Amino acid sequence: MPENRVVLITGASSGFGRETARILLSRGFKVYGTSRNPPGRPQELGVGMLALDVDSDNSVQSGVKELLDETGRLDVLVNNAGYVLTGGAEETSIAEAKAQFETDFFGQVRMVKAILPTMRKQGAGQIVNISSLAAILPGPFEGYYAAAKAALLAWSESLRHEVKSFGIKVSVIEPGFFKTNLGTTRKTAKFTIRDYDHLRQQVIATLDDDFENGADPKIVGETVLRIVTSKNPKLEYAVGREKRYKTLKRLMPHSIIENGVRRHWKLDR
Ligand SMILES: NC(=O)c1ccc[n+]([C@@H]2O[C@H](COP(=O)([O-])OP(=O)(O)OC[C@H]3O[C@@H](n4cnc5c(N)ncnc54)[C@H](OP(=O)(O)O)[C@@H]3O)[C@@H](O)[C@H]2O)c1
Repeated sequence: MPENRVVLITGASSGFGRETARILLSRGFKVYGTSRNPPGRPQELGVGMLALDVDSDNSVQSGVKELLDETGRLDVLVNNAGYVLTGGAEETSIAEAKAQFETDFFGQVRMVKAILPTMRKQGAGQIVNISSLAAILPGPFEGYYAAAKAALLAWSESLRHEVKSFGIKVSVIEPGFFKTNLGTTRKTAKFTIRDYDHLRQQVIATLDDDFENGADPKIVGETVLRIVTSKNPKLEYAVGREKRYKTLKRLMPHSIIENGVRRHWKLDR
């Protein structure tokens, strides 16, 4: 069935955002994407690209206004923009940790606050927030990323209760490792403590490998499609090869999961 709902996808210049834009466009959705530096490549595909930095109140307000001036409505927000910061808990500065939250938590909050008045007026709308399996199974040397994604998950569950009676649906996707630009745009805490060097280097080498050999990001785009065409979307959708670990964490003793996580990151070599 042809679709004509208006969708806004943050971070549509690469990775999940780009794939989601492509898939929704092919299904007839009217797709708008954002990038801090448009025009990005999705424009070639027919996606309307807006300049928007989720870290900035003004940028979010003017980007959303530009969209609404053109479309008059917004049916779906895919809150996807983000990056990963690596660094030990002790090594990472408070400023670096806050910057991670500014994009990966408050960036999504900012977008939702900007579009909710429109969705409430419409009496309908849908929000899909991109969290991470790291919210559920945090790895070492990515604690602030995992914490921002876990905050997003908890906040989304609360939001879902608040907006349901206005006809607004909220879901969260928790991807495992996927081959996108996330590994190349990864930021690293500047200050390092030599005692952690061998652990950090080991973990980051494994992480780079995990991204390099990650799954196809179109799986996330297909999941977004499934969510926005579902009558009763769930709160959480774990996706990717690692999604089984979410179930295992619920079912198995913590010591077994912890040993598995330490083995994956080669922490006890
Ligand atoms: N890849 C994975 O394995 C994985 C796993 C779990 C969760 N995730 C999450 O999935 C989301 C998408 O990441 P990806 O893997 O597709 O990575 P990606 O290819 O690096 O794409 C990230 C997108 O976010 C945008 N972005 C970054 N900071 C932004 C900001 N301050 N304001 C606006 N846009 C910003 C980038 O756009 P511009 O640079 O053009 O502005 C880019 O389009 C992220 O939230 C990430 O944490 C990824």
